[in-house]
Amino acid sequence: MLDLSPLAIWRRSAFSRVIDAERRMRQSATTTARVVCIASGKGGTGKSVVATNLAVLRAQRGERVLLIDFDAGLANDHLLLGLAPPFDLGHVIEGRATVAEAMVEGPGGLRLLSGGVGRHVLAHPTRREFERLLKALRPLEDEFDLIIVDHGAGIGYTTVTHLCAATTLLLVTSHEVTALSDAYAVYKRAVMVNPSLHVGVVFNRVPDADSADSAWERLRGVCRKFLGRQPELVGFVPADSAVPRSVDLRAPVSLVEPNSLAAQSLLSVSRWPQLDTARSVEPFYERALKALH
Ligand SMILES: Nc1ncnc2c1ncn2[C@@H]1O[C@H](COP(=O)(O)OP(=O)(O)O)[C@@H](O)[C@H]1O
Ligand SMILES: [Mg+2]
Repeated sequence: MLDLSPLAIWRRSAFSRVIDAERRMRQSATTTARVVCIASGKGGTGKSVVATNLAVLRAQRGERVLLIDFDAGLANDHLLLGLAPPFDLGHVIEGRATVAEAMVEGPGGLRLLSGGVGRHVLAHPTRREFERLLKALRPLEDEFDLIIVDHGAGIGYTTVTHLCAATTLLLVTSHEVTALSDAYAVYKRAVMVNPSLHVGVVFNRVPDADSADSAWERLRGVCRKFLGRQPELVGFVPADSAVPRSVDLRAPVSLVEPNSLAAQSLLSVSRWPQLDTARSVEPFYERALKALH
């Protein structure tokens, strides 16, 4: 007969909590990470501000988040997060550190792999070096729920390799014509090498609603006209003095001024539904390694 004493009920519920925790662990151990690339074409559009805030906000939701700063040789995500990693991806390529040694913990429990500052090896890796790096990163896909890759300006072969393998790209641009033109160029290249890529766009540092709307209309118009498709509008982040203040403090604006307009907009970007589904059938790094050959 079922024992209905309080102690027995407590034991049964404690037991089922253990079973639930084990089930959750098994599930997370067998599913690979969702991978999101962040790029823009032009430098200074706010990729790293968006990437670091996204990483913190998603980590705060209880996700295991890895931020990889692929702005090879000009990395600054560690500065934006107030971290001083002893090793970076350059050391990993050179075999002087493992990814586990290079990974550091940041706000909300996120993990960061820094790209290194002024390191030629990461700015211009040979194919063999890049392949070694992708193989070193491959096991991490089983350890995280979300991997955010913050790319540098331009669209070199390391970025293109990532875009070939990715399911999701978040373009970060401003309302300015030069930034829009570069965002279009990245979008065009990205959907050419990977037609099934889901691309979202964030307009950052927009001065007002009119500039935001007209920038979106322009980008959307040119994409539709010349490519017959358009990215998804994910959101607008206003130009906000809270952002440079947070940069000076070396902490994400979402943490130091969560009620600022920029932080509120970044929170809404972090709720982009695509971030919940950005998982490929074949693991990301397998696809990247294939794309490299
Ligand atoms: N929404 C914003 N409002 C005001 N300043 C911003 C905003 N986003 C970024 N910035 C400023 O722009 C600078 C460059 O941003 P960053 O993310 O490093 O660009 P990227 O990674 O694209 O080169 C930051 O140091 C920050 O001070
Ligand atoms: Mg950057």
